[in-house]
Amino acid sequence: MVPDGAECTWPDGSCHPSSFTRIICKSMRPDSLPPAKAIRLEYESRGVEGFYQESGDDYRNPHEPQVQRLLEVVVTQWNLDLSRVLDLAAGSGEVSLALRRLGVGKIDGIDPFTFRAYHARTGQTAGRETFEQIADGALEGRHYSLIVCSFAMHLVERSRLPRLAQQLARIGDRLLIVTPHKRPEIRPDWAWIIEQEIVVQRVRARLYRSLSRPQRQDRK
Ligand SMILES: C[S@@+](CC[C@H](N)C(=O)[O-])C[C@H]1O[C@@H](n2cnc3c(N)ncnc32)[C@H](O)[C@@H]1O
Repeated sequence: MVPDGAECTWPDGSCHPSSFTRIICKSMRPDSLPPAKAIRLEYESRGVEGFYQESGDDYRNPHEPQVQRLLEVVVTQWNLDLSRVLDLAAGSGEVSLALRRLGVGKIDGIDPFTFRAYHARTGQTAGRETFEQIADGALEGRHYSLIVCSFAMHLVERSRLPRLAQQLARIGDRLLIVTPHKRPEIRPDWAWIIEQEIVVQRVRARLYRSLSRPQRQDRK
């Protein structure tokens, strides 16, 4: 699939690295996604943690086909090192399963609330570290060629995001944020620099490179 739209500027005209590319695949844009209103109401009434603590075992992402399609495009078009991947806030394995289908072998999942659903679908045991524990260094000493965080980073409290991002930059060469929102944007002063962006069927992937790790050559 060749994307049919490519832009090299950011909408607000701000400065981004010359290698940064934003691509919008217009031909893959459906009329609309199913409304996310129900889940927003659940977050409001039970809180994010309360919601996943009570319902984590049954979690399924209604946008899983879009996540799969997006990852297909990302893996096909971007020259990523997929030798060791972390699926952060892994839900019931939406990203892990999609990457597995694309031939990725070594994937760790982490999710403190949906680890049973993750195991049920992937057959793999997920770690249970929270964003807050990771921000405090719980994964220090590990190394991933790619960290993927899908439909989850926007749930991190704004004040905790810089520390979480900085910790992730110590253990991951690249960070791929998959999100139906524009949020969150990860900033260079949090040790990540944006390299690529693509939007497929209204779901966005943003690829960042860590500024805290030695530069490595990408490979497929
Ligand atoms: C909308 S789901 C996304 C799951 C999956 N990545 C996907 O693409 O469908 C958000 C995930 O964030 C996890 N989560 C919520 N609060 C968290 C926290 N404080 N620390 C770590 N994970 C958290 C939930 O358990 C849930 O699996």
